Amino acid sequence: MTKGKFDVLLGLQWGDEGKGKVVDVLTPRYDVVARFQGGPNAGHTLIFDDKKFVLRSIPSGVFQGDKTNIIGNGMVLDAALFQAEAEALEAAGIDLKSRLLISKKAHLILPTHRLLDSALEASKGSAKVGTTGRGIGPTYTDKAARTGLRVGDLLRSDFEERYARIRAAHERTLKSLNFEYELSSIESKWREGIAYMKSFCLVDSEHYLNKILREGKKTLCEGAQGTMLDVDFGSYPYVTSSNTICAGACTGLGVAPHNIGKVFGIMKAYCTRVGSGPFPTELFDADGEAMCDRGFEFGAVTGRRRRCGWIDLVALRYAIRLNGVTDLILMKSDVLDTFKTVKACVAYGLPDGTETDEFPFDCEAVKPLYEEFPGWLTDLTKVTGEDEFPEEFNSYISFLEEYLETPVSIVSVGPDRKQTVFRKL
Ligand code: IMP
Repeated sequence: MTKGKFDVLLGLQWGDEGKGKVVDVLTPRYDVVARFQGGPNAGHTLIFDDKKFVLRSIPSGVFQGDKTNIIGNGMVLDAALFQAEAEALEAAGIDLKSRLLISKKAHLILPTHRLLDSALEASKGSAKVGTTGRGIGPTYTDKAARTGLRVGDLLRSDFEERYARIRAAHERTLKSLNFEYELSSIESKWREGIAYMKSFCLVDSEHYLNKILREGKKTLCEGAQGTMLDVDFGSYPYVTSSNTICAGACTGLGVAPHNIGKVFGIMKAYCTRVGSGPFPTELFDADGEAMCDRGFEFGAVTGRRRRCGWIDLVALRYAIRLNGVTDLILMKSDVLDTFKTVKACVAYGLPDGTETDEFPFDCEAVKPLYEEFPGWLTDLTKVTGEDEFPEEFNSYISFLEEYLETPVSIVSVGPDRKQTVFRKL
């Protein structure tokens, strides 16, 4: 009989919903925080005590005292980037080695994976995915092809031979793509990184997580990217290479589905996307500019300007159903504080003249159909409780809850930990 539970927190849009902040806020309720997929393509930004941290591979629970944080088997890790990220945290006084465990089954992003990511993108011409260039796709490709190397392989005596074999195969591909590269400097940084990574506690995290479950402890599984970037259900092929949905927590941590408790789905009050691919509600006008400027919508990892648009309830309801979301978390409503009218896409017009409110196979040529709401024209960043929400904002939330058939449990009204309003949790 199991006593504890695994709750999952994940993004419902195209990533960058603000998962890092909310994981940090919820961490006191949990014993363990575990990342289950993705790698340093993620950039989870946390702001507190006037300090800003950007986490890429390390779970967002590391700032809260005695919690254990786990890099799960479903993740892919770049040793050099991991070292830079971890050392920055150590320099900020965080005793990382006592709070971070790394799964031996997580896959290693090799220096040549990063080169392959750039080379393959360059070879795609106008059909580029617009990846983060961190080697994510090629690493998951090797995982599925059964040619990848895992963190646990670092402990094997023949690691160098295994590495040499896969590097040679990658170099053959790079040459066939006529890609010019210089490997030695990135390789030497990566070697430093793997020596550093070996000083951490490398574990079979699925055993650890199931043990603490039997002991009645609680784990928060932290997703990265967002549902619309899921390799199966997102806007393929403009997606990332992992399962970002709730089921990814089961495979990416070794958690049985019946042990999943709450599923927190995070969404912004508007929508953003980085990289290529369809985005039905994208704006090219002053409203889109205002969302980008007021919301500081620039990539935490790549610095790229994010594409902005209205909230898309068709895509969101699809995401909620795929994930079994029990609680919605609404982020960045304050970005819309100055808007006289706020819009939400409630259906798509299809090229054949019909309409749908189900997310279609191809959303390339759909036209968003909107419901309009009067703006709240109030500075939400100063609000400390639900009773201070303006009437217009309450009506907007009620509409979201009704359309999405799910309660909004938390409303974030600014980047700081303190700017968080709990409603029904
Ligand atoms: P990759 O994950 O680097 O292969 O990139 C694939 C697609 O996912 C690209 O469109 C990226 O911009 C997008 N992407 C990957 N990670 C993130 C993220 O953390 N936030 C937003 N978009 C992301």
